[in-house]
Amino acid sequence: MATVVAVENLNPKVLQCEYAVRGEIVIHAQRLQQQLQTQPGSLPFDEILYCNIGNPQSLGQQPVTFFREVLALCDHPSLLEKAETTSLFSADSISRAKEILATIPGRATGAYSHSQGIKGLRDAIAAGIASRDGFPANADDIFITDGASPGVHMMMQLLIRNEKDGILCPIPQYPLYSASIALHGGTLVPYYLDESTGWGLKTSDLKQQLDDARSKGIDVRALVVINPGNPTGQVLAEENQYDIVKFCESEGLILLADEVYQENVYVADKKFNSFKKIVRSMGYGENDFPLVSYQSVSKGYYGECGKRGGYMEITGFSAPVREQIYKIASVNFVPISLPGDESYAAYQAERDGILESLARRAKAIEDAFNNLEGYSCNKAEGAMYVFPQIHLPKKAIEAAKAAGKAPDAFYALRLLESTGIVVVPGSGFGQVPGTWHIRCTILPQEDKIPAVISRLKVFHEKFMAEYRD
Ligand SMILES: Cc1ncc(COP(=O)(O)O)c(C=O)c1O
Repeated sequence: MATVVAVENLNPKVLQCEYAVRGEIVIHAQRLQQQLQTQPGSLPFDEILYCNIGNPQSLGQQPVTFFREVLALCDHPSLLEKAETTSLFSADSISRAKEILATIPGRATGAYSHSQGIKGLRDAIAAGIASRDGFPANADDIFITDGASPGVHMMMQLLIRNEKDGILCPIPQYPLYSASIALHGGTLVPYYLDESTGWGLKTSDLKQQLDDARSKGIDVRALVVINPGNPTGQVLAEENQYDIVKFCESEGLILLADEVYQENVYVADKKFNSFKKIVRSMGYGENDFPLVSYQSVSKGYYGECGKRGGYMEITGFSAPVREQIYKIASVNFVPISLPGDESYAAYQAERDGILESLARRAKAIEDAFNNLEGYSCNKAEGAMYVFPQIHLPKKAIEAAKAAGKAPDAFYALRLLESTGIVVVPGSGFGQVPGTWHIRCTILPQEDKIPAVISRLKVFHEKFMAEYRD
C-alpha cells in the first residue's frame, strides 16, 4: 500500500518554502537548551540567548501595563462588576475596557466578529492613522488581522495566480515574503538594497529588475517595501519614498508597505513617514493609488508577538476587489492611553523606557560589531536588528565548504556552540552573492548586553585566530 502521508506526496510549494529565522541553527539551539537542562555544566555557557527573532518579551521585555489591564478586563468583563477591581486596575483602564466592550456585539471577545474586525476598533485604528498622518483614514479600509503575517499571506493569495505572477521584494528581505510567495506558487522578483549607502533603495535598480522579469514573461504585480527595514534596520528618506510611489504609479504596481517597525526609530536625523501619508501628500486620492499598509502589535514598544494582533489598511482598490478580501478579526488591538488619564504617566514612562533602551542597545550592538576584525555594520536606524557584513577569511570559507555549509551558517553555528548566542545567517534573507552577513536582534535586556558583547568578542577573536589567512 502506498504511504498515505509521505514527504513525496506533500504539496511541493510547502517543501519549497524556507523560513531561516526558525531554521537549522534554531533547531540546534533548542537541542543545546535541552542538554543544558539535562546535563548542566556540559556546555561552555549556561544559557541560550535567542537573538534570532524579533520576539522582545521572550528576552525579558515587560508588557505595557495599560494594554494588559484593558485586555484583561475585556476578556473577563465580570471583573468590572467586582469592588476590588477599582483598587487593582487604573480608572482609565476600567473606563477604556467599558468603552471597548460597548462596541463589541454581545460584549463577547470570544465571538466571531465582522470579517474585517470589530467596527469600534477599526474606528479607533482609523482615528490613530489620521492623527499620525494628518490625512483622513476610513474604518472600512481597515482589516484587523491576527498579526501582519496573515495580511501578507492574504494579499499574496489574492494576487498570485500562477508562477508567472511576480512580486518585487527587497534582498535582503524578511523571509515571510519569500515563504509566502513560494507557498502561493508565485515568483519572487528580487531587488538589492545597497549596503554601501546604508541599505538604500535605488529606483534605477528596481526598474532594471522589473524589466528583466518582464522580459522573461513575468507579470509583476506588486512591490514590497519594508520600512524600517528587516533585517537591515534602515529608515527610508522621504525623497526616496516619493520616488518609490512614482515608480509604482508609472509601472502599474501595487505597493505593499510593511510598516510594522514604524515606532522603532533610533536616530535623530531620520523620521518614519507612512506611505499612506506620502501618497496623500503627493495628491493621490482614495481611489488613485493601490496601497496596502501593514502594522502589528508584535513590534514597536508593544512587543506582543504572542497575543497576535495587527491590521492592514487597503486603499485604492475597487469595490469588487475589496469584496474578495476576507479576514478573521482579532480583538487584541488596544488604543493607547491618553494624556490626562490616570495611567498616562506610567504608560508614557513604560513606552519611552522601552524605546530609549532599544536605541541604546542598537548603538551598543552596532558599535560592538564595528569593533571586531572583519566586520562592517551599517547604522541601526530602526527596527530590531543589525545585519553586519562579515569578511570571512578564505580558510574559514574552505572549512565551511568541507562541512557542507554556507560560510555564514558555519560561522553562526560555531558562534552558537561556543557562546549560546543564536543569530541567523544572512543567506536566510538573501545577500549579494559572495558577501556574508548575520542578523542579530538588539533585544537582549540591557543588563545582559555587556556579557553578550564580550562573549561575541572572545568567540570572534578565537575564530579569526584559527582561520586568519
Ligand atoms: C518586516 C516584518 N513584517 C511582518 C512581520 C510579522 O509580524 P506578525 O505577524 O507577528 O505581526 C515581522 C515579524 O518579525 C517582520 O519583521
